[in-house]
Amino acid sequence: MKKASALKLSLIALGVLATAGVTATTAIAAKTDDGITAKTMTDALHTVMAADRKIYTKLIISRLAKKEKVITASEHWKDEKALVLPAQMFRYASEEVAKKKPSFSYKLLSEWPINKQNAPKTKAEKEGLKFIAANPGKNYYTEEKLGKKKYFTAVYADTAVSPACVSCHNDHKDTPRSDFKLGEVMGGVVIRVPLK
Ligand code: HEC
Repeated sequence: MKKASALKLSLIALGVLATAGVTATTAIAAKTDDGITAKTMTDALHTVMAADRKIYTKLIISRLAKKEKVITASEHWKDEKALVLPAQMFRYASEEVAKKKPSFSYKLLSEWPINKQNAPKTKAEKEGLKFIAANPGKNYYTEEKLGKKKYFTAVYADTAVSPACVSCHNDHKDTPRSDFKLGEVMGGVVIRVPLK
């Protein structure tokens, strides 16, 4: 793992606190002498993303679609008046965040994607996904150069936390893999922060 360069506090405060809904003025005024690193920033962002993703799957999808069976979850949610899938929820939020042009970007990828758009593209994404699948419980951190810009890139495992993850993916017509098991790494969240 390479050491991440420390980013300007204002940049970090804006990025992290924007997610928490705190105004930029408050964020910029915040004082710290810690010298926050890009890793601290991506770890914090990921903690929030992972919690939201888990709670949505557990309290909305598993409870209403699987247990109570009051509504279904479908990728064609609009036509079928169904719940948005967890991965779609994640992607729509990521696209919404991107519109605000923050300093960071994030996405959910997999070596075995149902949606081919979610396949890894850069060397860091490919290596990161392989690393987190082979080393359960560990995150992957690296630096990469894309165009003329240098980035800190972090990859966090996305695990089959519920039987719904496994059954839906294994049975999906577009899946390139149908032997996922509960607890296995199914993909990863890639978070990218520009470095100076
Ligand atoms: C009801 C079906 C369904 C359930 C439940 C489901 N997924 Fe997915 N998942 C999909 C579909 C469809 C996509 C593609 C969405 C898109 O980007 O358009 C997807 C996308 C993904 C991706 C991105 C790569 C890809 O396959 O395109 C990952 C990683 C992933 N899901 C993991 C999970 C995990 C982990 C869970 C449980 C917490 C889960 N999924 C629950 C259907 C499902």
